[in-house]
Amino acid sequence: MIQTLHVPLKDRSYDIHIGPDAWEKLPCFLIEGEFGGRLIVVADERVYRIYGNRVREILASSGMTVSVHEVPEGERSKSFLEIENLCREMARSGLERGSLIVALGGGVVGDLAGLASSLYLRGIELIQLPTSLLAMVDSSVGGKTGINIPEGKNLVGTFHQPRAVFADTAVLKTLEERDWYSGIAEVVKIALTLDPQLFRYLEEKEDLGPSGGIDPVRVITAACSAKAEVVREDERESGQRRVLNFGHTLAHALEASLGYGILRHGEAVALGMQAALALSVDRCGLPGDQYSRAMAVVGRIRVPEVTVPTDLAGYLTRDKKSVGGRVTAVLISNIGQAGMVPLEDPGTLTEALLAAIGD
Ligand code: GLY
Repeated sequence: MIQTLHVPLKDRSYDIHIGPDAWEKLPCFLIEGEFGGRLIVVADERVYRIYGNRVREILASSGMTVSVHEVPEGERSKSFLEIENLCREMARSGLERGSLIVALGGGVVGDLAGLASSLYLRGIELIQLPTSLLAMVDSSVGGKTGINIPEGKNLVGTFHQPRAVFADTAVLKTLEERDWYSGIAEVVKIALTLDPQLFRYLEEKEDLGPSGGIDPVRVITAACSAKAEVVREDERESGQRRVLNFGHTLAHALEASLGYGILRHGEAVALGMQAALALSVDRCGLPGDQYSRAMAVVGRIRVPEVTVPTDLAGYLTRDKKSVGGRVTAVLISNIGQAGMVPLEDPGTLTEALLAAIGD
């Protein structure tokens, strides 16, 4: 059974289709969408090896001409070099204003293809076929695109909404365990900031791993509906959307400082959430029992051991939520209630993390 959610954004509104075999809906969507006959699939090498032939066949059955552009697997592909390679491939493939980019993969491919779709010919259409849990619950929805630079993660990007998202949950069976936990971290983020009912669902699961009994359609639908509601109110992140960055200021600093790709994004977010929860008690009055319950759930997200770098301050102040060089943290006052709190000293976040992980 496929669930369909609507993201209402006036002329940029679109649907998110969630469920096993959601990709089978693609041919009808493409025929009705009149995308000018030509599309390019962007995928990383691993995903293309597993799903490339099937997706090509499904897309070509709409009558469109399909080209393919593969990128190396991993966070390092979110670069200016890969944007240039992709845009040149689109030009060689004859893509025009009415043509379509299909992002087939996890967050890296979605962010990269999304950015290229907003730049090439000043903007062409995009659809997202997320293959990782993280991309299904978060990055394929809401229109953020981006690449990294050595100075910081996602510092270059645009807002460019997709025309549709097709989250085919059958593909999660080939997800590596680390990538599963990475996606679960974003689900926990939504639960802690926006959805107490989703939090209780996760709390009842002793094991948040891939065989722990979590229903992917249930959590993807819950996370996407909460996110769609936030994006509807604040598409360009001038207010409430910033709560979706819970745990992310420190996460982005850790990813940039350790070197992109050392930690999965969700693993870094899990560490960032531990720090944010500790600060939430001090700065927002998060009650002790809620702190313990929240930490118990975050603690079930498996994260490799890392030595926390000491040079995070520069990365923290370059966070996109900083105002006048002052870091603003997303904290919670109760499970499901988040807000923004300016910090005098960005180092507070690092100290909170070190205290939380007992370094
Ligand atoms: N990943 C956070 C957002 O889309 O706003």
